[in-house]
Amino acid sequence: MNLFLIKHTIKYLLTSGHKYGHRIHSPFVFDFVQSVFRAKYSKSVFSPIENRRRALMLDSRKIVITDFGAGSKRKSSNTRTISYIARTSASSGKYARLLFAITKRYQPRTILELGTSLGIGTAYLAYGCPEAKLISLEGSQSIADEAVHTMEACGINSAQIMVGNFDDTLGEALRKLQYVDCAYIDGNHTKEATLRYFEQIYPYCNADTVLIFDDISWSEGMYEAWQTIIADERVRISIDICKKGLVFFRKGIEKQCFTIRY
Ligand SMILES: C[S@@+](CC[C@H](N)C(=O)[O-])C[C@H]1O[C@@H](n2cnc3c(N)ncnc32)[C@H](O)[C@@H]1O
Repeated sequence: MNLFLIKHTIKYLLTSGHKYGHRIHSPFVFDFVQSVFRAKYSKSVFSPIENRRRALMLDSRKIVITDFGAGSKRKSSNTRTISYIARTSASSGKYARLLFAITKRYQPRTILELGTSLGIGTAYLAYGCPEAKLISLEGSQSIADEAVHTMEACGINSAQIMVGNFDDTLGEALRKLQYVDCAYIDGNHTKEATLRYFEQIYPYCNADTVLIFDDISWSEGMYEAWQTIIADERVRISIDICKKGLVFFRKGIEKQCFTIRY
């Protein structure tokens, strides 16, 4: 944990609203808290994904990756073991289940993920809504190859993984999807890139879209990007849960920014 994240996490713990939704007067956010944050699912639902995670965490094979820097722990070499990537990059625990709970609740027709890594988060997103058309973007071919195996191991055939720098693949992914009902932005954690992806994705969003930003409190720059996004008049509801930020464009509701304990 870096110093900014530690300070920010303490502030979040002291100021965040109640996790059960008491005193939340927005019916939309109250429903979100009840049906997404509080939803309980049997662990067996996720067994194929968690079995695959265990296999990846035990996998000592070394692969050469393209290091995109921001958001990943800087190392001098571009060689990583699969187990290292599984331990440091893959969504886990309640945050992985949150991805599932969101797609389960809102049943998006399309899902876009920036940053596939080994495909664990992708699998959680897909399990919540197997009918959705899902495109996930990953820069490293060697990592994407493992993600393809994750999709197979988890019985997912709705996901397409596109390989290349987001700068080159995002436009094409958006054109293929035509509209974005749900997007998970989990790669290239810099202020400039995060704001650029938001602007690039926005024209494809609608009143039902949910955007999920990862690591909004990871650095000063990421937190500034988050503050800029939630201040934007196009954003009607935002929910800050410290590690992630959620954005909605619902029409006809008062603009409000929430910080909620998760
Ligand atoms: C934190 S991991 C994604 C974890 C995954 N979403 C999950 O939930 O399990 C971020 C991934 O984004 C990729 N990435 C970062 N910046 C990128 C860029 N500019 N273009 C393409 N891929 C990038 C990295 O290679 C890395 O695998």
